[in-house]
Amino acid sequence: MAEKDLKKLIEKALDMRNSSYAPYSHYKVGAALEASDGQIFSGCNVENSSYGATNCAERTAFFKAVSEGVHDFRRIVITGGPDDGELQYATPCGICRQVMREFCNPESFEIILAKSTEDYRVYTLAQLLPESFGPENLL
Ligand code: THU
Repeated sequence: MAEKDLKKLIEKALDMRNSSYAPYSHYKVGAALEASDGQIFSGCNVENSSYGATNCAERTAFFKAVSEGVHDFRRIVITGGPDDGELQYATPCGICRQVMREFCNPESFEIILAKSTEDYRVYTLAQLLPESFGPENLL
């Protein structure tokens, strides 16, 4: 995949941080999920005064895609950090990793933790969720 496309995906995730609704944690996350057909679904974290009702950026992106009938994915860029501080390599929470596992091949799906278009780390889902439980277990 062209480097230029990755930069565009990172820019999309960074842009989504502006939509983050995080009045409680002040930790803003943006995600950009690339489907196998090239479509991009973006998402941000959406917090709630009943904290447990909060939805992470990654799941927002996945649920937008799946609700549009898209089930095959190539990679996701995640950008996160405190709203008054520096961006971090914002690693996905356990629930989001499991949601990824439902739809993605652990060996090939890439999770890109980006601080900028120049500064990012790339992992496979299998690296971040080893020995995972998935749909095949129920077949
Ligand atoms: N958050 C995400 O959006 N993605 C993650 O994988 C980790 C955490 C959000 C949830 C909450 O709004 C804030 O970050 C602090 O936990």
